[in-house]
Amino acid sequence: MIDRRSVLLSSLALAACGNTEAAPVADATPLKSIAPFPIGVAAMSGHFDEPAWVNLALTHVSQLTPEWEMKMEYILSETGDYRWEAPDRIADFCTAHELRLYCTTLIWYSQDSAFFRSLDPPRFRREYDRYIAEVAGRYRGRATGWDVVNEAVAEDGDGLRSCLWSDVLGQEGYIVRAFEQAKLADPDAVLFLNDYNLENNPVKGATFLRLVERLLKAGVPVGGIGTQSHLDIEIPAGRTRAFFHEAAQFGLPIHVSELDASLRSDSRIDTRSPRQKIDQQTARVAELTEAFVALPAAQRFAFTVWGLRDTDSWLRGGTRDDGKDSPLLFDAAGRPNPMYRAVMAGLRGD
Ligand code: XIL
Repeated sequence: MIDRRSVLLSSLALAACGNTEAAPVADATPLKSIAPFPIGVAAMSGHFDEPAWVNLALTHVSQLTPEWEMKMEYILSETGDYRWEAPDRIADFCTAHELRLYCTTLIWYSQDSAFFRSLDPPRFRREYDRYIAEVAGRYRGRATGWDVVNEAVAEDGDGLRSCLWSDVLGQEGYIVRAFEQAKLADPDAVLFLNDYNLENNPVKGATFLRLVERLLKAGVPVGGIGTQSHLDIEIPAGRTRAFFHEAAQFGLPIHVSELDASLRSDSRIDTRSPRQKIDQQTARVAELTEAFVALPAAQRFAFTVWGLRDTDSWLRGGTRDDGKDSPLLFDAAGRPNPMYRAVMAGLRGD
C-alpha cells in the first residue's frame, strides 16, 4: 500500500524534474489529434516545473512560442550582454518533447533597450545586426519560424509606427534590415511579420497587408504573415473571414500567433449577460478557426493560443482584472472551456 507521504514525495520529485506523469488531464479530445496543422501555445520556462501545465500542453499542442523569454527585454541587458538561460530551456524542452519551436520576437517597437538608446548611429547599426545574428543564429536549425518584426503598424492603422528602430534606421528601413539580417542568421526559418487587431480593425488589417505587399515587391524575405488574433468578440460576423481572405492572396503561410478572446469590455459599461458574452466568443472563435481551416493546406502555418489556462493569460492579473475573464481554451483546473468547444467545432467543420 502506498502511504500519503510517499505519494507527496514522489509528486514533489516529479514536479522538480518536470515529469509529466503526475496531474491527470481532463477528458477532452486532444486538439493536435484533430488539426491537420500545428497547434501552438505560449510558454514560460517556469511552466515546465508544473506537471499540470506540462501534461495539458503535451496532450493538446505540437508547438511552443516563448511568451516573453525570447524577447529583447529578457535577452539583452542594459550593458549589451546576452542572457540565454530561459530561452535555451524552452528550446531544449521542445527538443526533448518533439515539439516545434516558434520564436518571438527579434524587433518590437515596445521593447527598445536602454543599451540601444545609448549608441551612436554607426554603432547602433552594428549592434542591431549583431543582435539579430546572435539571437536568430543561436536557434538556427531549431526554430521553425521567427516573428522578425512585431507590431510595425500604427495603433489606429494609419501608417506605420515611429519608434527607436525607425528613428535610426528609417520607418521601413528597420523592417527591411531586420528581415535581411534574420535571413542571413537562419535561412531555413520562416520569417514572419506579425501584428494585432488585423481582424478587429479593417483599416489596420489593410495597412498591414499593403506593407506586406510593398516588402515582397522590394524583394524583402518576408516568408509569412502572423496575425496575433487577440480577438474582440464584439466585432461583426464576417470580419475575420474577410481578413483571412485578403491575407491569403500572397500565397504565404499564415500564423494565428497569439489567439485569445477576452470576455471583458474595457470601453463601456457592459450590459451583456454572461451567456451573451460566451455566445459572442464562441461565434467569433469558431469563425476564426473555420477561416484558418479554409486556407490552402500549405498556407496553414500554425494555430497558436496565447496561454493554456485562463489563469495563464496575460489578460489576467493587473489592475483591470476582475478574476473572471475566460479568454483561453481551458479553465484554471485544465478543464475545457466553451472556447475549446468553439475551436473544436471549427476544426471539425461542425
Ligand atoms: C506579452 C506577454 O503575454 C507578457 O507575458 C509579456 O510580459 C509582454 O508580452 N502582443 C505580443 C505579445 O506580440 O508578445 C505580447 O505578449 C502580447 C501582445
